[in-house]
Amino acid sequence: MSRLDSFIRRLEAQRACLNAAARLIAGLPGNVLEFGLGNGRTYDHLRETLTGRDIYVFERKVAAHPDCIPPDDRLFLGDFLDSLPRAIAQLGQNTALANLDVGSGDEAASQRLARAMLPSVLQLLKSGGILISDQPVEDPALEALALPAGIKPGRYFLQRRR
Ligand SMILES: C[S@@+](CC[C@H](N)C(=O)[O-])C[C@H]1O[C@@H](n2cnc3c(N)ncnc32)[C@H](O)[C@@H]1O
Repeated sequence: MSRLDSFIRRLEAQRACLNAAARLIAGLPGNVLEFGLGNGRTYDHLRETLTGRDIYVFERKVAAHPDCIPPDDRLFLGDFLDSLPRAIAQLGQNTALANLDVGSGDEAASQRLARAMLPSVLQLLKSGGILISDQPVEDPALEALALPAGIKPGRYFLQRRR
């Protein structure tokens, strides 16, 4: 498979999981957390799909499309691992959906980062809340959910907090 095909399939998997997650939390109040603003693609999609939800964004350096920059009071600027304790203090355990889109070109480093973030993310994610991620993360508090039709396992990850 060409790198172009692989990139397209990853984005398709991401969009399918974002849409599935939005449906799964339809009856669950709570905020939404976006880890990794990047150029703002997934933030924009969440914003469009989940109108009315408070969406908080975590990013160390904002470089998104100008239309996709969150308001200052919804942005945790800095390293994820520094921002997470502040977010726990501010938000408590009231997150219905967290999207971890934290991958860089370095697969091992990306997985280490996601694993380091997970305990704090779980302190924010309420029971029944959905975690979707571009990295494999596991915890006894999480149950894996079936991926949307047509999405190959391992392209994106969809889990629910017990
Ligand atoms: C894959 S990109 C996110 C793409 C984005 N969701 C989109 O749709 O455009 C990952 C982002 O995570 C950010 N990031 C990576 N490691 C980080 C860290 N330790 N703390 C804060 N931000 C980090 C990077 O700056 C980058 O913008």
